[in-house]
Amino acid sequence: MPEAQRKILVTSALPYANGSPHMGHLVEYIQTDIWVRFQKLRGHLCTYVCASDSHGTPIMLKARELGITPEALTDGYSQEFVNDFGDFGVDFDNYHTTHSRENEQLVGSIYATLRASGDIYTRTIEQSFDEKEGMFLPDRFVRGTCPVCKTEDQYGDACENCGATYSPEDLIDPVSVLSGTKPVKRESEHYFFKLSEYGERLRQWMKDATLDRNVVAKLDEWFEAGLQDWDISRDEPYFGFKIPGTENKYFYVWLDAPVGYMASFQQLCDRDETLDFDDYWNTDSEAEVYHFIGKDIMYFHTLFWPAVLKGAGYRTPSSVFAHGFLTVNGQKMSKSRGTFIKARTYLDHLNPSFLRYYYAAKLGPTIEDIDLNLEDFVARVNSDLVGKLVNIASRCAGFISKRFDGELAAALPDEALFAQFAEASETIAGHFESREYSKAMRQVMALADQANRYIDENKPWVMIKDADKSAEVQQICTQGLNMFRSLMVYLTPVIPAVADDARAFLGESSWHWRDASTPLLGSRINKFKPLLTRVEAEQVQKMVDQSQENAVVPEAEVKDDFISIDDFMKVDLRIARIEQAEPVEGADKLLALTLDVGDSKRSVFAGIKAAYDPATLIGRHVIVVANLAPRKMRFGVSEGMVLAAGPGGEDIFLLSPDEGAKAGMRVK
Ligand code: 2FM
Ligand code: ZN
Repeated sequence: MPEAQRKILVTSALPYANGSPHMGHLVEYIQTDIWVRFQKLRGHLCTYVCASDSHGTPIMLKARELGITPEALTDGYSQEFVNDFGDFGVDFDNYHTTHSRENEQLVGSIYATLRASGDIYTRTIEQSFDEKEGMFLPDRFVRGTCPVCKTEDQYGDACENCGATYSPEDLIDPVSVLSGTKPVKRESEHYFFKLSEYGERLRQWMKDATLDRNVVAKLDEWFEAGLQDWDISRDEPYFGFKIPGTENKYFYVWLDAPVGYMASFQQLCDRDETLDFDDYWNTDSEAEVYHFIGKDIMYFHTLFWPAVLKGAGYRTPSSVFAHGFLTVNGQKMSKSRGTFIKARTYLDHLNPSFLRYYYAAKLGPTIEDIDLNLEDFVARVNSDLVGKLVNIASRCAGFISKRFDGELAAALPDEALFAQFAEASETIAGHFESREYSKAMRQVMALADQANRYIDENKPWVMIKDADKSAEVQQICTQGLNMFRSLMVYLTPVIPAVADDARAFLGESSWHWRDASTPLLGSRINKFKPLLTRVEAEQVQKMVDQSQENAVVPEAEVKDDFISIDDFMKVDLRIARIEQAEPVEGADKLLALTLDVGDSKRSVFAGIKAAYDPATLIGRHVIVVANLAPRKMRFGVSEGMVLAAGPGGEDIFLLSPDEGAKAGMRVK
C-alpha cells in the first residue's frame, strides 16, 4: 500500500543577515535540504521555507558602522545566502526576510492576542546603559572581569574561562564594548511573556512531539530549573518592529524571528494558490511542521516558540530537529588556520556535491558535533563517489553504447541480486526519514561494493572478446547499470546534481523513490560522460590558503595607510550617466560634468579636459564615488568623484562599465 500523501512544512533556522554563509551554516541547510528532497521524491507535498533574520542590535550597529541602512546591509547578505545556498543545491521553496510586511502583520496580531489574554505584561527593570552612546546595552556588549574566577575581559552573560553565568551588573570593572566607558544603571519599562505559566502545556507538547532524546533531556533540565518569564522588548535605538502603542519600544529579535517562518510561508501561499496558510497553522491542522536548528538555539524553539504559538492560538511544531556544531580537522573553525571557510570560497575550488555527500556520510539525528576532516574528505569522496559509485556506470556504459547502440538488454541476468537493491529501499528510506543519513550512506556504499564485485566477477571486458558471449555482455552491463541506477535514486536527495546527470544519461525524465525497485530494460541510454572527477588534495589546500588570505592579517602586517574592509565598504561606488560636459572658464584641466547617479543629479568637476572632448562624453557611463562629501572649489561645489586611471594629462582613461550598466547601479 503506498503511503498517503503527507503535507509537510520544513524550515531551517533563519540566518542572521550580517555575515557571509560558511561551512558551519551549510551543515544545517544541507541536512534540511536532503530531508526535504527525500520527502518530495517519496511523493509527499513538502514545502521548505527560510528567510534572513534581519533584526537586532548587531545588525543595527554594523549597518551604522558601514554608513548604510540596515535594510541595505541585510538585503546584500540575503542575496549572498540565496546565491551560495542555491549553488550548493539547497532548494528553498521560498526565501524571505523577517523585516517584511507579512512578518510585521503576524507579529502584531500574535502580540495583540497575547497582550489581550494577559500573557504579555509590563514591568520596570534596571539595565546597563551607555551614556556616551545613549543606548541600553545587550549583555554581550558589556565586558569586564569575571566575578567568579577573576579572568579579565569576559562577556556580560558568561565567562569563557570558568563557564559561570551571571548578569552584566555582576562583572568587576564593566565597560561598554561600544564606547569603552563604564555603563550606568538605568530603569526602563519592558514587556514580558509569561513563560512561567506554560510549564504544563509545554510538557504536554514535549510528549506529543517526536523529539530526539537529547532534546527531551535538555527540556527536562530546563523544567527542573523552572521557567522564567521572557523579556520580549528592547529600547530604542533598535532595528526591528516597533511595539504597537509605544513610541520607543521594539520587539526583541527573538520574538519576531521564528514568526518569520510563518511569514515566509505566508508569502509563498500568497503566490501559490495550492497552499493554504491556515491549513498548516490552525490548531486542527493535519499538516506536519518541522524546524531544523542548531543545538544552541533549542531554548528558543522548544520553549518560547511552542508557548507563543499555543498562547496565540496556533498549532505547535510536530518536532524540532537539532544538530551539533561543525568542527574542521577536529577543532573549532579558525580564520588563522584557514578553516573558517566561506561557502563561496569552497565553491571557487570544489564541487558542492562532494560536501553534500561528506556531510550526509557524517550526519545522524543527534546533537553530536560533526567533524569535517579535510584529509578524510578527499579520501572519502574519491573512494565512495568516484571509486565505487560512478565507477559502476563507467565500467558498463561503454559496452552498451559501442556494442549495442545504447540499448539495454530486455532482462536481467541476476534478478536475485537486483532484488537485494530493491529490497533495501524501505530500510534506506527509514534512515532518511529518521535523519540517520550516515546509516543510509553506509548501506548505499555497501550495495555499491556488491555491484562492483559483480562486475569484477563477470569481467565483461574479457567476455566481449568472445563473439558468442555478446548477448551476455549486454545483460551483465544492463545489470550493472540498473544497480547503479537504484543507488542513484537513493542518492538523489544527497547529490541531486549528479543524480540529474545520471538520469539524463539513462534517458529518463524523472524519478520517484519507487523507481529504484523496478529495473530499466530494453530502453536506450545516452552516451556516458564522467559524472564526477576525483578531488585532489591540492584543491583543498588552495581553498584553505584562500580562506587564510581572506582572514584578518596580523596587526604587524597592516601598514599605517591601509584602510579596513569596513572603511572600503563605506564608499558608495555607483554607475553614473554623463548628462552634460562643459569646459570650466578659467580652469585648464577641468570639465564640469552633470551626472545622473540614479536617485539624483550631481555636479562634479573632473580633471580630464586634456584627455576628453566634452562632446564625446555625453551619454557615456562612468563610475563615481557617490557619497563623497561635497567640496567647495574655486569654480563651485563638486558633489562626487569620477574614477579614472592613468598618469594624467592626455593619458587619462575613464573607467567605463560594460554595456548593460545603468545609472544608479551600485558597483560591488
Ligand atoms: O541563531 C541564529 O542564527 C538565529 N538567527 C536563528 C533564528 S531561527 C528562527 F527562530 F528564526
Ligand atoms: Zn570566570
